[in-house]
Amino acid sequence: MDVQFAILIILSIHPNPRSDKSIKQHSQMTTNYDKIAGSYDLISRAVYGKALVNAQVCLLQYIPALSRVLIVGGGTGWLLEDIAKIHSDLTIDYIESSAKMIALSGKRDHGTNCINFINLPAEDHITEERYDVILTPFFFDNFKADKIEIIFTKLNTLLKQDGIWLYVDFVDNGRFWQKLLLKTMYLFFKITTGIETQELINMNPFFDPRYHKIVEILHYHNFIRSVVYQKLS
Ligand SMILES: C[S@@+](CC[C@H](N)C(=O)[O-])C[C@H]1O[C@@H](n2cnc3c(N)ncnc32)[C@H](O)[C@@H]1O
Repeated sequence: MDVQFAILIILSIHPNPRSDKSIKQHSQMTTNYDKIAGSYDLISRAVYGKALVNAQVCLLQYIPALSRVLIVGGGTGWLLEDIAKIHSDLTIDYIESSAKMIALSGKRDHGTNCINFINLPAEDHITEERYDVILTPFFFDNFKADKIEIIFTKLNTLLKQDGIWLYVDFVDNGRFWQKLLLKTMYLFFKITTGIETQELINMNPFFDPRYHKIVEILHYHNFIRSVVYQKLS
């Protein structure tokens, strides 16, 4: 574990002349992934191998053709390339608070899907659009419960009745190694991004009353959960 943590720090801390500009852009925000955007995928794969990728890719088949999709906190945008391998007719709003993550995502080959990049915190996304699908990959683990409540309520409003919510995140099953890994990750993200929380919030109560769970797939010794939810009418 110590070795993993040392790798994380070494890989992530490097000079970034553009970070000041981005921090000014979102001065009201506490969390900023700009500093680690360039090395984020390398770091996550060094720790989890392909588990974080597989946990997201396994959900893509549940996106219906011709959907209007909202991706929240998509990171470097590698997922757009995987989406393009199986979908060609989607309209995707891609919302990311990190300017550097958005810049990296813009360079991805997204095929014939139409992508609108939106460099804003999700909580500031104001639109008349209603989406068929919302995807939140490793997004809610960034926040405290009160902020989750605000963002969840907002996203819930933006999803159509019977719409699909593709949710992927870590689960705390109470196992010692999971708690240790979570603690290490939160410390790493506190140092590198200023993440606002140090605790993983249980998301079940947010979905349970309003959503029907269609599919659940566990990964990485049950530490990662991919879920297909459908909004109840
Ligand atoms: C843990 S990373 C996950 C990235 C990507 N989903 C992946 O799995 O590779 C969380 C992402 O959420 C973004 N993010 C954090 N707070 C956000 C907010 N309030 N609104 C939109 N994006 C946010 C970060 O910039 C970062 O790219």
